[in-house]
Amino acid sequence: MNQMHRADAPWPVPHERSKELYERAQRVIPGGVMGQGRFAKPHPLYMTKAEGARMWDVDGNEYIDFHCAFGAVVLGHNDPRLRKVIDQTLDQHGVAFSAAHPLESELAERIVKHIPSAERVVFCCTGSEATYHAIRRSRAHTGRNKILKFEGAYHGWHDYVQWSVHFDPAEAGNADAPKPVQESAGMIRGAEDGLLTCGYNDIKTLGDIFAKHGADIAAVIVEPVYHNAGVVMPVPGFLAEIRALCDSNKSVLIFDEVITGFRLGLGGAQVQCGIIPDLTTMGKAIANGMPISAIAGKAEIMNGFAPLGKTFFSGTFYGHVLNVAVANGCMQVLENEPPYEYLDRLGNRLKAGIDAAIDEIGIPATVRQHGSVWGLYFTRRDLIGYRDMASFAQTKEHPIHSSYQRWMLENGIYIHPHFIVRGYLNAAHTEADIDRLVDATRRYFVAHKENLTEL
Ligand SMILES: Cc1ncc(COP(=O)(O)O)c(C=O)c1O
Repeated sequence: MNQMHRADAPWPVPHERSKELYERAQRVIPGGVMGQGRFAKPHPLYMTKAEGARMWDVDGNEYIDFHCAFGAVVLGHNDPRLRKVIDQTLDQHGVAFSAAHPLESELAERIVKHIPSAERVVFCCTGSEATYHAIRRSRAHTGRNKILKFEGAYHGWHDYVQWSVHFDPAEAGNADAPKPVQESAGMIRGAEDGLLTCGYNDIKTLGDIFAKHGADIAAVIVEPVYHNAGVVMPVPGFLAEIRALCDSNKSVLIFDEVITGFRLGLGGAQVQCGIIPDLTTMGKAIANGMPISAIAGKAEIMNGFAPLGKTFFSGTFYGHVLNVAVANGCMQVLENEPPYEYLDRLGNRLKAGIDAAIDEIGIPATVRQHGSVWGLYFTRRDLIGYRDMASFAQTKEHPIHSSYQRWMLENGIYIHPHFIVRGYLNAAHTEADIDRLVDATRRYFVAHKENLTEL
């Protein structure tokens, strides 16, 4: 491994201001960042502005942003149409009432119109809150305790689901009888009693788990496209089998569309795959970066939320005026000027370009893309579940990922430093931006060919 593969080497771009800020921030913020998702060695790069497809750090480095706020930014940063909505909302309404207001019904009507599973809708602020409430509601609805989630899938930070995300398979037992692996210190003892795990795309084990525990399973929560592993599509029959098992066992099917919702299309992944869940959780792209999330689903289940039912649902900022207004504005843009064909075209261009570079230079890598989400894997192995990629997905600082990310930074391209290289596109990206990414990747392959061995 050459120098480029050292994860803690100084950043290859000017970083003096970032370093100073890190030193200052550390005195008052643990690790100088809002959690490990924003940390990178030797210190974080502190960003100061984002506009369209570009982002700038405090040292004045300009990047084409392919991180897009973990996928939340779908139209482009600081979209002028949404800035107008923000101004109008402040003029006409204000910021927060923590009381019912008409913009909420407008947004709920839009979601009911577009999301096939949506008959009723509630709003919260983050994806984690949405999955938490959806699961609690499913438990109350069925009177059962167990939730089934898939290995390697992140559905948020709460104790219900933060299991078996980035783990060592040796700790989780055999793939045909997996045990949940705790992700965080401090989780409530016994939380795993309410949890079952299974490999994504493992239809056989799924059937076995249902045969054994079906009567206790309150809900299955699943990403209809497995983006927490980059870009992994459900194998034919996988989602249909989950639907069938949930039906025959009277379990609730929750699609976690926090990434796919509004990014893949207005109806989300459920329109593409034709499988309709009972509940859907959404967040991220719903408001192009403002913090709002939603739970939508069958009236029969959703009406169990308070005040109609006994499942508690409340939050000071739920239905926050500004967030709801921007979500309405964002959906209006997505309806009137849908960016999806354009994003698909950009995504296809990116994939074709990187595929050609992989072939030409002959390195063991695979690029995958679905719509505006793409992933680069430094392997040629077929990847359908977490265990296929555990050797490089367990650490957030794999040397090859770090080296690729640093190379891209040097070339004015920002991708998230962690885990599998996964990137997002937004409607402000141009073909020239994609070509720059492809060209930089191609040059990375050439420069590191000797070190790029099959992971
Ligand atoms: C599929 C999925 N669900 C839920 C979440 C949690 O969302 P948040 O970070 O907004 O709490 C994430 C976050 O990345 C996610 O990818």
